Amino acid sequence: MEGKQVTRRLVLVPVPAQGHITPMMQLAKILYLKGFSITVVQTKFNRFIPTDDFIDVHFVTIHESLPESDFKNLGPIRFLLKLNKECQVSFKDCLGQLLLQQSNEISCIIYDEFMHFAEAAAKEFNLPNVIFSTQSATAFKCRSMFGKLYANNVLAPLKGPKEQQEELVPEFYPLRYKDFPVSRFASLESVMEVYRNSVDQRTASSVIINTATCLESSSLNFLQHQRLEVPYYHIGPLHMVASAPTSLLEENMSCIEWLNKQKVNSVIYISLGSLALMEINEVMNMASGLAASNQYFLWVIRPGSVPGSEWTESLSDEFSKMVSDRGYIVKWAPQKEVLAHPAIGGFWSHCGWNSTLESISEGVPVICRPFSGDQKANARYLECIWKIGIQVEGEMDKGSVERAVKRLMVDEEGQEMRKRAVSLKEKLRASVISGGSSHNSLEEFVHFIRSL
Ligand code: UDX
Repeated sequence: MEGKQVTRRLVLVPVPAQGHITPMMQLAKILYLKGFSITVVQTKFNRFIPTDDFIDVHFVTIHESLPESDFKNLGPIRFLLKLNKECQVSFKDCLGQLLLQQSNEISCIIYDEFMHFAEAAAKEFNLPNVIFSTQSATAFKCRSMFGKLYANNVLAPLKGPKEQQEELVPEFYPLRYKDFPVSRFASLESVMEVYRNSVDQRTASSVIINTATCLESSSLNFLQHQRLEVPYYHIGPLHMVASAPTSLLEENMSCIEWLNKQKVNSVIYISLGSLALMEINEVMNMASGLAASNQYFLWVIRPGSVPGSEWTESLSDEFSKMVSDRGYIVKWAPQKEVLAHPAIGGFWSHCGWNSTLESISEGVPVICRPFSGDQKANARYLECIWKIGIQVEGEMDKGSVERAVKRLMVDEEGQEMRKRAVSLKEKLRASVISGGSSHNSLEEFVHFIRSL
């Protein structure tokens, strides 16, 4: 980063997970370049090790006494509940220290909506606080309405019989009950506990969301007119505004060389983000479906993402044979570069919000295989609203994988989706350049925090 005259400090508090750290660090870079000093507060979990791009950003690690294994073992909802309790006191101490030590005055605390302990401390020191929703406006809308819907028993079908889960949630088109963004591993009560605290936007100074109007105008309108009582800003997709390396894992660049040898739009990229797991039988079905589709593929298999297996070594020879002809497997890819590569014609994705934005911004259509949380709502938008996605639901066998891949990579249907994806990419690009809606909203946000 270039040196700048800096005066006012912002304290940023990310959730310690790749999908949340990435947009928070992109925001850090943008706000630094706008002239703010930045402090990022982390815990020991998934700590981001700053690269040269963040040389002028101040990183602080606060203490908590959770065991290292909690992140993996508790599931996201229970982990976040515990982390929020654990960090309350240490964050307050940290803020007190920063106020004593820093020569720059602190303008405000910007915290991931799930790190609500930051808000209590901000209040104690009379500091403005900004909620950052790193997921979609639709997921934010659902969470902000969750308390009311829960109290009126509207959400009971979420945990009800299968037929009920297929029904549309009234006033949330196109979401069915089964697409509502809640963790499939947690009870409604514990989800309620996290959401009650996390989106209490009435007491925040403002809300920022990593989205754009061309993607989610109806959810953004709803938030503006019926829900949010504080200023809000749709400032995304941030990765199109600030490019900075934010990966916690090492990216294997050799896949780009492999892609360089492939034809335009001929490869499907497969990645399930930083958290999702896949059973061995699903991996095998995936491999045989891919082999049967006769398409080339680049597949990210994260170490530890197949329970009972370190990586691919415990998978059979049959697996290796199936992938060796047309496939390339890596532990972690430079995803944004991969999606931008001309050889990539489609993305098999778990539909995390970052992957969704990154795919649309490169005009790449998606096969949607969501696992949990907001991914189900994102998949529904890809399929029903933007019409650039094919969702694979239910049991995943060789046949369903083969069919989905051929529909996207070979059939006319896939070609049409690719055209729509390219047109959406152009709209996104227009929204982040000077005069575009996200660009303007970001400028307004910067003006707002300068005025605090
Ligand atoms: C989590 C949640 O699961 C997701 O639903 C939520 O929206 C954000 O937090 P994650 O599952 O990791 O995130 O998915 P996603 O949001 O897509 O973020 C993954 C990030 O890792 C992306 O920015 C992607 O570019 C990056 N990535 C993924 C790589 O750089 N290399 C890879 O091989 C795979």
